Amino acid sequence: MDWAKERRCCLGRVALVPTMGALHVGHLSLIELARMQADEVVVSLFVNPTQFGEVSDLTSYPKTLEQDKARCEALGVDVLFAPSADRVYAPDASVWIDEEQLSRGLCGGSRPGHFRGVCTIVLKLFNWVQPDLAVFGEKDAQQLRIIERMVRDLNIAVEIVRGEIVRESDGLAMSSRNQRLSKVARADAVVIYEAIELAKKWVEQGERSTEVLMQGVRDRLARVPSLIVDYVVVVDDVTLEPVEQLGSSALLAIAVKLESVRLIDNSVLRLG
Ligand code: PAJ
Repeated sequence: MDWAKERRCCLGRVALVPTMGALHVGHLSLIELARMQADEVVVSLFVNPTQFGEVSDLTSYPKTLEQDKARCEALGVDVLFAPSADRVYAPDASVWIDEEQLSRGLCGGSRPGHFRGVCTIVLKLFNWVQPDLAVFGEKDAQQLRIIERMVRDLNIAVEIVRGEIVRESDGLAMSSRNQRLSKVARADAVVIYEAIELAKKWVEQGERSTEVLMQGVRDRLARVPSLIVDYVVVVDDVTLEPVEQLGSSALLAIAVKLESVRLIDNSVLRLG
């Protein structure tokens, strides 16, 4: 990317917002955050094949390039970087980034190799664009923490900025995958947010047992019989290891399938 060389002399602070496209208001909030903290904003748009396990998930991933371009232009994005897959990976690529601790559970447990694909593409994007900062959403809490760990452990000179989860008016976390839900499943999906809000209320009321909280969340999710739970966990917010009693801050993370669409959501559970 010649642009990256040029920027070193003249462009000021550069922010990167990595995405897989099908941009929604959640992505746009990250772009706005980037805009506030940098002189130049680069949005990358690449549906990264190496982070998808099931081929059907990759092929059915929504693609809305023209609309994405218009949205980026409207927000004053300076560069939209949308490379084709053959430019990104050499056919005989043999070097990968493996994070070995935080990736073990949660989505890493149910999607083997997923975070290897994520870390590798994110590092490649960092090398290409050479940003000063990069913005990632709390929506993908595990991904965010793994990227922060990669930056720490590999001494990458990129500041990671966290963007809050943006939700639909009924509370469902925005996701490119929401478009694939039927009307009925879309209405049912709100149960995920309801379960999270309930757990937060129980914590406020003094509940400290993570087993009780997780069971309460599972019971709430069970109100939608067609919903398949992948995981409901309460883990330490930093190590992502299971905790029995709530400490100063823990992460409630949920992954479910509705009509074979995988949905994830989370919330930090804070005491007091
Ligand atoms: P993608 O799912 O397109 O998400 C791009 C960024 O948008 C991620 O940082 C994600 O956490 C954030 N995001 C998604 N939904 C959000 C919401 N409702 N509120 C706030 N932020 C939200 O995550 C990826 O792509 C890929 O794994 C990627 C990092 C681009 C690597 O391929």
